[in-house]
Amino acid sequence: MPFEYPQPRRRFLAKAAVATAGMAIGPVLIGPDGVSRAVPVPGNTSSLPSGLFTLGVASGDPLPDGVVLWTRLAPDPLNGGGMPNQLVPVQWEVAEDDRFRRVVRRGVATAHPGFGHSVHVDVRGLRPDRVYYYRFRAGREISPVGRTRTAPAVNARLNRLRFAFASCHNWQDGYYTAYHHMAAEDLDFVAFLGDYIYESVPRTTTVRTHEGTGEPYTLVEYRNRHAQYKTDPNLQAVHAAFPWIVTLDDHEIDNNWADEIPQDPDQQSPEAFRARRIAAFQAYYEHMPLRRESMPVGLDMQLYRRLRFGNLATVHVLDTRQYRSDQPTTLEEAMDPSRTMTGDEQEAWLLAGLERSGTRWNFLANQVMWAQNDRRAGPEQVFDFDNWDGYRVQRRRLLEFFGSGRTSNPVVITGDRHCTWASDLKPDFDDPHSPVVGVEITGTSISSGGDSDTVAFHNTYDPIMAESPHWKYIDNRRGYIVCDVTPQRMLSSLRVVSTVWQPTDTTVATAAEFLVEADRPGVTVVSQQPSSQARSFGARPPGEPRYDVDDDQPQF
Ligand SMILES: [Fe+2]
Repeated sequence: MPFEYPQPRRRFLAKAAVATAGMAIGPVLIGPDGVSRAVPVPGNTSSLPSGLFTLGVASGDPLPDGVVLWTRLAPDPLNGGGMPNQLVPVQWEVAEDDRFRRVVRRGVATAHPGFGHSVHVDVRGLRPDRVYYYRFRAGREISPVGRTRTAPAVNARLNRLRFAFASCHNWQDGYYTAYHHMAAEDLDFVAFLGDYIYESVPRTTTVRTHEGTGEPYTLVEYRNRHAQYKTDPNLQAVHAAFPWIVTLDDHEIDNNWADEIPQDPDQQSPEAFRARRIAAFQAYYEHMPLRRESMPVGLDMQLYRRLRFGNLATVHVLDTRQYRSDQPTTLEEAMDPSRTMTGDEQEAWLLAGLERSGTRWNFLANQVMWAQNDRRAGPEQVFDFDNWDGYRVQRRRLLEFFGSGRTSNPVVITGDRHCTWASDLKPDFDDPHSPVVGVEITGTSISSGGDSDTVAFHNTYDPIMAESPHWKYIDNRRGYIVCDVTPQRMLSSLRVVSTVWQPTDTTVATAAEFLVEADRPGVTVVSQQPSSQARSFGARPPGEPRYDVDDDQPQF
């Protein structure tokens, strides 16, 4: 199956989602909040404001026969969008060439004010494993041209897949220089693993400042925050270059939220947080190239899903926020077997999918670290319980499944950590005899954390690494990971940028390469920069301006 959502849990709500899709015009609109609203009538497109496509274009969730195309009309992106309260027809077309001489599909979507004038087109009827170009037209304006690529046929014997994964691009912490370089890579898709926006308050001592006056809580506030991020030209370039497969983590809503529990339950009532989550989910959907099945319904948004790339790889996209138990506060609590990171339904869905995917590789597009991550040298162990370290019994159960022979080459790709961590995965990280059953590559951040202090990082973590034999490589510079996959092996390259504190004239370098051989669980570092270079390239240059960061990682 090329693309698989779990069966809809609620037929009525699935129907409601179709009614709210913004593509069909009916007498009543049922919003994700469940409230019915009168549908505005189509307006005169000749009187639209100018500058409709300030947020660029995007595509996502590639299938063998189609892809989702996205844009949002927002002539005044930081102030609610600036569109009149009317339906707007938006023409779209898909061509085999970037000059649109061979158009293969076209149609008209409706940008709806109830969805921030966003447009999601689920184009079908395309050929597998092909590059296509797309664009939109609204009123008299034509969007930038996007490039996308369909997935190979389900049973295609695929010899190569090349993708990048990224996470954590805090606007305030740095420029998206990593995306400038990613746009020039040769990729089939980009997986984004969470923290697309940060909800933190604007600060004037950072490299650039969040819009607004505080944390977002309402739909309009989350829209403005998403829109600000989407105005970045480097981010737009990567969206326009490759299809993205996205999932979210905590900062799209609230730091370290868990299901219906906010970071600070003493300051946000359950009702207030539920309203906040509904607003944040809707704004997230409005700004992402997601299929209609992921449209929020009430409090829920269906984000865990599977995508297949021929017989070579399946991407199991996880959601470790919506269904998790609240973070524990002690190791004893972390070992409670009733605790779950995914919820029971998602766990059953994941295990079934891992077992019957039929592909050589199984990638888990995941948010927080699986590999045990002690934060203190010496016999005492200190953990961040927001990670899988806080959900140990479930983690062990899943890792024992990895080692059971019932799935093929599981590799977890992870965001959140703002550092790179290449690790072997074992059911029991404290037992030297516990078998290696899989691999986790935790990517760094695009900008979160700013230009890093590599010396302080290694001073803290090198001694812990000596006590953590499952860690094979650690680094805290900014960048992304490129994964080159064949039936025989996966070679992952850590690409680091020289700085995120200046917008242009930056360089990128391969800091290290990690090899995973098929049917031989475990990761090997096959190349890395000499440590002197690793500690200087990307480190804060002496005498250069320094900025505050609102990194949420524990300081070292
Ligand atoms: Fe983050």
